[in-house]
Amino acid sequence: MNRTRTKKKIIAFLIATALVVLTLYLLYSFHDLLHNLFAVRIGLGESSANTFVRVLRLVFFALLAYLLVRALNSLIFGLVFRFRRGFEAPALVRNIFTIIAFTALFFLIFSRIFPGANLGALFTTSAIFGVILGLALQDTLGNFFAGISLQADRPFQVGDVITVGALRQTGVVEEITWRAVKIRTFANHIVLISNSTAAKEPIEVCPRNNLNARLVFFNTLYSDSPAKTIHVVREAVREADNVSQKITPVVRIRNLADNGVDYEVKYWLDDYSKYNDTDALVRQRIWYAFRRAKLNFAYPTRTLLIERRATAGLREGEESAIIERLSAVDIFAPLSPDEITTLAQAATSHVFAPEETVIRGGDPGSSMFVVHNGRVSVEVAENGMSRTVATLSDGAFFGEMALFTGEPRTASVVALEETEVLEIGHSAMKSVFDNNPDLVESLSHIIAERRQGLAATEDSARSKEDATAGLLSSIKRFFGLK
Ligand code: CMP
Repeated sequence: MNRTRTKKKIIAFLIATALVVLTLYLLYSFHDLLHNLFAVRIGLGESSANTFVRVLRLVFFALLAYLLVRALNSLIFGLVFRFRRGFEAPALVRNIFTIIAFTALFFLIFSRIFPGANLGALFTTSAIFGVILGLALQDTLGNFFAGISLQADRPFQVGDVITVGALRQTGVVEEITWRAVKIRTFANHIVLISNSTAAKEPIEVCPRNNLNARLVFFNTLYSDSPAKTIHVVREAVREADNVSQKITPVVRIRNLADNGVDYEVKYWLDDYSKYNDTDALVRQRIWYAFRRAKLNFAYPTRTLLIERRATAGLREGEESAIIERLSAVDIFAPLSPDEITTLAQAATSHVFAPEETVIRGGDPGSSMFVVHNGRVSVEVAENGMSRTVATLSDGAFFGEMALFTGEPRTASVVALEETEVLEIGHSAMKSVFDNNPDLVESLSHIIAERRQGLAATEDSARSKEDATAGLLSSIKRFFGLK
């Protein structure tokens, strides 16, 4: 395709050159005849006919010069530059070469054909000519100099993706000529932005050799966990074609909106000029990942919340899961199924994000917690540093010390991952104790043991039995038990 075009161009060039040379030959061979024709037949007079013939020669020599300059241009920049240096000269450089070479040749030809005339003086002394030329070339010269400054500054290069301020035109730079910047839009249209516009307008440049990022937006229902969503989307997007492996995509919550949680995923592209396709692929990957992970896109919704008093707002499935969880907690082993159900109905579920604090050491507390799903760490502050005393997972409990003794929280408990805990308050535990006095004793053992773990040096002096006995009586007192 390109080769046939070049061939056609060469043939056209050769024909044009041959025609011009032939015309010049005829002008010289039939000089007397032409001169006579203009001077006598048409009646221009001797000197005017002479000038007219010379002007004709000037025009054809100028044409020949133009053709030669074009040929030279193609030869130097098209062939020599490409092979020798491995790159193509910018269009603007080629244009400047053409203009300078042609002007020089034109001056030379003019001085040969009109030896007496001073072309420079003609240009400089003619004020009217200057004004006309200035006005006519105002825009052209503006573009020309803006083009030179674009070449010097190189704010963008061929292959970069640019968006031009007010025009909001985005495309890949194909060429920077002496008049305009040529970009190919993503609809495969060519847009020409004059150099003076390009120099004036703010331009967003996404360089070809740069890791440029994109943002793709999506949302989920409020019932979908952010930690899970972030993980699922990050993993789905990082594998997509043209998503750079050098930086892991980032998924963030943008807004807690009316219909759901709004997210953005930021990813980096290997080839930015293909961002439309890659954005589409990323959206597609998110859809499939949502499907597999049972996540839901948010859509305009009206949620009808019907509370059932009997279950204190818990949905049926949730209630049975809570009963199952509490039955598996060792300290509740002595409780009957009815007592467990009562406890489950009194329990409130809370979800914590990774690294969120569930309870803070030193705070007052009147409830205990059972880890429903997830993992927490128990941390105490020592010399301004935090020490992890224990890590608790599904089925373990914490917060019982403050609940049973009335003292402040002995440690902070922090979620290690997304964690759901069940909170049981003072009054629910009191009714359990009333029916199961033995429970207080087993709890006293656990609390005494945990206290030892908290401050080994201080408590090791006292025997565990003493501590348990002391705790037993203080719990009984605190809960008003006999
Ligand atoms: P509480 O003092 O109410 O609040 C902090 C909780 O951390 C505490 O109750 C215990 O439930 C828990 N805790 C303290 N020390 C330990 C330990 N050594 N092992 C496990 N859990 C502990």
